[in-house]
Amino acid sequence: MENLIQLVNKIQRACTALGDHGEESALPTLWDALPSIAVVGGQSSGKSSVLESVVGKDFLPRGSGIVTRRPLVLQLHRLDEGREYAEFMHLPRKKFTDFAAVRQEIADETDRETGRSKGISSVPIHLSIYSPHVVNLTLVDLPGLTKVAVEGQPDSIVQDIENMVRSFIEKPNCIILAISPANQDLATSDAIKISREVDPKGERTFGVLTKIDLMDKGTDAAEILEGKSYKLNYPWIGVVNRSQADINKQVDMIAARKRETEYFANSPEYRHLASRMGSVHLGKVLSKHLETVIKSRIPGLQSLINKTIIELETELNRIGKPIAADTGGKLYMIMEICRTFDQAFKDHLDGIRPGGEKIY
Ligand code: GDP
Ligand code: NA
Ligand code: MG
Repeated sequence: MENLIQLVNKIQRACTALGDHGEESALPTLWDALPSIAVVGGQSSGKSSVLESVVGKDFLPRGSGIVTRRPLVLQLHRLDEGREYAEFMHLPRKKFTDFAAVRQEIADETDRETGRSKGISSVPIHLSIYSPHVVNLTLVDLPGLTKVAVEGQPDSIVQDIENMVRSFIEKPNCIILAISPANQDLATSDAIKISREVDPKGERTFGVLTKIDLMDKGTDAAEILEGKSYKLNYPWIGVVNRSQADINKQVDMIAARKRETEYFANSPEYRHLASRMGSVHLGKVLSKHLETVIKSRIPGLQSLINKTIIELETELNRIGKPIAADTGGKLYMIMEICRTFDQAFKDHLDGIRPGGEKIY
C-alpha cells in the first residue's frame, strides 16, 4: 500500500510539472481525484506547527500574524534508508539537506510571488521531503482564515483567503485537518465553521485541538476530546506544539514530541485518552485514512488514468514528429507514469484477490 501512495504522489507531481499543457487534458481532473490533506483554521491557530510535528521536522515559517501567504503543497516520501533531503518544484535538481534553508526558501519564494506586501497568492509552492522518518502523505498548508485586514492589506484579503481555502477543501477528495486552538471558544472556531460548510457529514474532517497547554487554569479540554461537547465523525485529536518561546530557544522536534507524549500521559485530565493524542498518533491516523481512501478510489482512479492515457496518445499523435523535447517529452513522461500507475493498480488487485479481501 505504501507504494500506491508513492505512485499517487508521483502522478500529482507529474501533473503539476506538466503545467499549462495539462489544462487541455484530463490531468487537472486526475489531480483533483487524488486524495490530499489540507490544514484549515484561523490565523495562528497552529496549522503550520501541526504540519511540522506530523512531518517531524522544522522547516515551515511560523509565528504570529499572517506568515503563510501561499498554499504549500507538501509531499512526504518515505525512504527505506539514507539521509533526508528536500526539493522544491521551482528549483529542480537542488537538494536541500539544511531545513533552515528550506524555511528561508519558502519565505523567499512567497515574497517573489506576492511582493513584500503581506499580500496573498493562490499559486502553490510545491515541496517534497524524502526521509526515513516520515509517512507517505501529501499535505497542504494554507493561509489562516482571518476577520480583519492589517497594515497595508486590502480589505478584500479576508474574503480572498476564505475563497482560496474553500477552493482546496471543497474538493471531495480533500481530507480536512480542522485546527482549533483550545484556548478559544470552540463555538468561534473558523476551522469547524468552514469545514462543516463543505463537509456537513464530517466524512473527511479530522478535528485537531491545539494549544491545550495554554488553557486557562481550572479549565481543560477533556469534554471536547472525548467528543462530549462537540461530536465529530472521527475522534478529536489533541496536540501540544511548541510555543513561541520554545521556537525562539530552538527546542528540537524530538524533545518536543517527547514532552508532548509526557504531557498527555502525566495529566490526570487526559491520561485515559493518552494513546490517541499527540502528533505521532495524528500522523499514523492520517496515513491509515489516506490508504483507506485510495483503496476505495482505485476503480475510479483506474478509469481516469486510462482516459488520461488515451488523451495523451491522441495528443502525441496530433503533435506528430519531431516532438519538441519540452512538450512531447513531458507528455511521454506522464504517460509512462500513468502506465506504471495502471499496472500498479492491477498488481495491487491481483495481490489482494487471492486472500479474498474485498475492496469494492
Ligand atoms: P498558523 O498561523 O495557524 O500556521 O500557526 P503557527 O503554527 O504559525 O503557530 C502560531 C503560534 O502559536 C506560534 O508562535 C506557535 O509557537 C504557537 N503554538 C502553536 N501551537 C501551539 C501549542 O500547541 N502550544 C503552544 N504553547 N503554542 C503553540
Ligand atoms: Na501564523
Ligand atoms: Mg501557518
